[in-house]
This record gives sequence, structure tokens and C-alpha cells, in this order.
Amino acid sequence: HGEFNQKIDYVFKVVLIGDSAVGKSQLLARFSRNEFSLDSKATVGVEFQTRTLNIDHKTIKAQIWDTAGQERYRAVTSAYYRGAVGAMLVYDMTKRQSFDHVVRWLEELRGHADKNIVVMLIGNKSDLSTLRAVPSEDAKEFAQQENLFFMETSALESTNVETAFLTVLTEIY
Ligand code: GTP
Ligand code: MG
Repeated sequence: HGEFNQKIDYVFKVVLIGDSAVGKSQLLARFSRNEFSLDSKATVGVEFQTRTLNIDHKTIKAQIWDTAGQERYRAVTSAYYRGAVGAMLVYDMTKRQSFDHVVRWLEELRGHADKNIVVMLIGNKSDLSTLRAVPSEDAKEFAQQENLFFMETSALESTNVETAFLTVLTEIY
């Protein structure tokens, strides 16, 4: 990545949220290291990864935070959202319940994060489209109502992952 001795112009904190097993950690692995694992373990506590990239001739360090979707393994909520300028709200397009819970995640986000935070709604696992349980149109409509960006991704196939993160980072910038 040629990060050595690079002057950083901005550091942007972006948080991943959404139900357990929707693929938050694998989206992060794909974006930060171009890796993917099918036997990913549930996240406990908080982890983060960084990736330095150039946007508009500026060097931006994206610091992406990842926590557990499961309540009992979650990080302290207020600390997790503190200073975040972007959020990826992820559901699994093959699990209707994970989409139904998006409203709750949005409530928590709006209760704890800065009001100007840039939010991307992500329907992950587009490689499993034969098992689709959430029509794109439903998600698109919801995103429009709530003023969120929206994209369908596959961490497995690497579809739209880069685009989703870059859209949020560019919008923040
Ligand atoms: P918690 O840490 O418990 O909140 O879960 P998580 O949202 O981080 O889910 P994780 O990234 O660990 O992925 C859960 C499971 O879904 C793993 O078996 C992943 O390999 C799988 N998975 C993640 N992304 C994709 C994807 O795009 N396509 C497919 N087919 N499987 C995926
Ligand atoms: Mg995880």
C-alpha cells in the first residue's frame, strides 16, 4: 500500500453495525486486506482495521471499527460511536429479520452518533441471490426515506465492497 512515511491529511472513523452474521467482519476483511473467510467467527468486543487511500489528492486514513451484532458481545455503545463520521449499516439479503432490525440499528445510531454522520445501508451476500429474502426495491425505498446511501454487496465475490466504502469516505470528505 505504500503507507510508509506517508503524510496523512485526514483520519476518518467509520463504524460497522448490523445483526450478527450479516458479514460485517468479512466486509472489513475484504476492504482492508482483500481477504475473505467462510468460517469467520463471531466478533467479541471491538476490532478495527485501517486502510490508507487517496481521495482527490489527499491522503485519507480510514479507520474502520467493527463490533459484535450479538448484544452480549457488544462494545460500550457510546464509545463505539464517538467520533464516527461514517457508518455501514449491514443486513443479510437472505435473512429478512436482519433487514427488519435495520430500524433498531438506525435508532441506536441516531441516538449516539453525530447528526451529520454519513450512513450507507448495505444488503450483503449478493452472491446468494437465489436465496434472496429482501427485494432491492424495499431496501432502496427505505434508504430514500431515511436519507441513507444504499448498495448490495458480496464480501465473498468482492462485489461493490470497494465502491461502498469509497462512496462513504468520499461523501465524508
Ligand atoms: P458478528 O461478528 O457476530 O456480528 O457477525 P458479522 O456480521 O461480523 O458476520 P461475519 O463477517 O463473521 O460473517 C458471518 C458468516 O457469513 C461467515 O460464515 C461469513 O463467511 C459469511 N459471509 C460474510 N459475507 C458473505 C458474503 O458476501 N457472501 C456469503 N455467501 N457469505 C458471507
Ligand atoms: Mg463480526
